[in-house]
Amino acid sequence: MQNLIGRDLLTLGDLTPEELQAVLIRAKAQKLAHRNANKAPVATGQSAALIFMKPSLRTRASFELACRDLGVHPIVMGPQDAFSRNETVHDTVKVLERYVQLIVLRTFAHSHIEEVAEHASIPVVNALTDDYHPCQVLADLLTIKEHKGALQGVKLAYVGDGNNMTHSLMLGGALVGMQVAVATPVGYEPRADVVARAREIAATYGTGASVTLYNDPKDAVASADVVVSDTWASMGQEAEHAARVRAFETYTIDTPLMQRADSRAIFMHCLPAHRGEEVVDEVIDAPYSVVFDEAENRLHAQRALLSLIL
Ligand code: CP
Ligand code: NVA
Repeated sequence: MQNLIGRDLLTLGDLTPEELQAVLIRAKAQKLAHRNANKAPVATGQSAALIFMKPSLRTRASFELACRDLGVHPIVMGPQDAFSRNETVHDTVKVLERYVQLIVLRTFAHSHIEEVAEHASIPVVNALTDDYHPCQVLADLLTIKEHKGALQGVKLAYVGDGNNMTHSLMLGGALVGMQVAVATPVGYEPRADVVARAREIAATYGTGASVTLYNDPKDAVASADVVVSDTWASMGQEAEHAARVRAFETYTIDTPLMQRADSRAIFMHCLPAHRGEEVVDEVIDAPYSVVFDEAENRLHAQRALLSLIL
């Protein structure tokens, strides 16, 4: 077992393939134990600050439950509480460390969580920034492993905006040896440095992963085992919604597009979904859609992650 004690998780690039697999293996084991009501708190007496500068349903609920299961007391805070009233990042972090043993943060600029981590002597976990959503992709990889039986060699097609989900799927896919195909409109591609980092991870660890960018969703989805979409306008981009709906008009995942994927392909979405925009009801409600397994696995993946860090 790799040692994640005391470590930050700001992006999946912080993990080796072995460390990522250790989280997934523990998540599956704890998921089975949870189902059998055979849970043992591992961090009794500790506390965690769960700070959400953006809205959250899944991440907030699953982190709060994961903490409770582990015997960690969660303190949930919003923008009224933390980093408010012009309090500096330094002062905020120095105060929090006197109370808690872990900071989980959802925020806007990724540089904000990096600054928090620089000041913090306690571990910091990324609950989503504008650039990355690593905890979501831990749950996604667990879900893919459950439905496909493996991760290495699996083809994942992501269709939509080159956003935080795209970045984390590319990094996670690179670590586990997946073929990641990304289709975005011109001008909405994932960041070139993150694409390069994912390819570098694949080469460094020899995972056999690939990352390929397309503009036509049909090219990306061809023979895919997993088809993924996400919102076209992420949190913080609400003012761009109308322009984005026009730009992404031909990027909706519908049944004809799904028919280009492998006949046993699954559909995934981190949620919240915008039905009729990035995905139609017929796809997200189909038997091959695993979006609620994915949402459930947030709890199992994060409980495993926190138990390894604490
Ligand atoms: N998928 C996800 O992170 O959902 P929330 O924004 O509701 O936490
Ligand atoms: N890309 C989306 C993910 C939401 C979980 C956003 O950042 O709003």
